[in-house]
Amino acid sequence: MSIKHFLQFNDLSRDELNYIFDRALWIKAQFKAYQQYWPLSDRTLVMIFEKASTRTRLSFEAGMQQLGGSAIYLNTRDSQLGRGEPVEDAAQVISRMSDIVMIRTFEQEIIERFAANSRVPVINGLTNEYHPCQILADILTFIEHRGPIQGKTVAWIGDSNNVCNTWLQAAEVLDFNVHVSTPPGYEVEPERANLYGDSHYEEFADPMEAARDADLVTTDVWTSMGFEAENEERMRDFADWQVDADMMRVAKSDALFMHCLPAHRGEEVSADVIDGKHSVVWDEAENRLHVQKALMEYLLLGRIK
Ligand code: CP
Ligand code: NVA
Repeated sequence: MSIKHFLQFNDLSRDELNYIFDRALWIKAQFKAYQQYWPLSDRTLVMIFEKASTRTRLSFEAGMQQLGGSAIYLNTRDSQLGRGEPVEDAAQVISRMSDIVMIRTFEQEIIERFAANSRVPVINGLTNEYHPCQILADILTFIEHRGPIQGKTVAWIGDSNNVCNTWLQAAEVLDFNVHVSTPPGYEVEPERANLYGDSHYEEFADPMEAARDADLVTTDVWTSMGFEAENEERMRDFADWQVDADMMRVAKSDALFMHCLPAHRGEEVSADVIDGKHSVVWDEAENRLHVQKALMEYLLLGRIK
């Protein structure tokens, strides 16, 4: 059987994604009922972090343990990875000692090179370009609250970053629309987002117009990890791209608000929105756990039934 990686959202088909969402709901229900489920006993996940994380580390480590396996954490600061060992060599060695690997790193090219030299599945835990596990969790959360996402409208307000790119890929695979509003100079780069076409997203100069009638409004930090040198300039450029109560009022009355977290209240989102009635950010964070368990099960064992 050929190895299946999850390096970009569109590595999985609509059919596979729907299977994973269904499976995640079943795994979540088992977990909530305290039913032990150990399909990955004796399997080892290696997690490689070149950037900080709370949710990604916790959800992968806890998730693997809850499936009966174990997880090992490596970071660039105290392993040979930070001392210039070629990615290809690291992939050869790490994938001979483990069953599945998750990587959070800088350029997408790094994870692609790792995967090309890996004997086991590789999962993208965030790169400069994409954050596919996040959007798995976000769409699972949408499905739980509102049903299928097909045909719905997602408003993305702010930076056209890794999370935005992944929403755009997801819209193509799952057939929904994304209304994007970024400040001038921060527009979507379709090639970087690796899109097939542009029929599933539309750009708006005015963030209020992007949010109008949306089923889901979402945003992310103005300065992503790795771009800290641009922080001051970004604070100025993004000042009018805050998701606030006025913006939520022009969206559908039952619109959801999501944020991958960590959030900066008073910057990309106002406190009354993230802590208000539209917000599902805690469900969204929790669903990282459940959907990634379904993902790991699928990459290692294929379809269960
Ligand atoms: N959303 C997310 O990936 O969070 P962490 O950076 O804490 O992993
Ligand atoms: N866009 C953010 C997401 C953090 C989870 C970053 O890359 O820093």
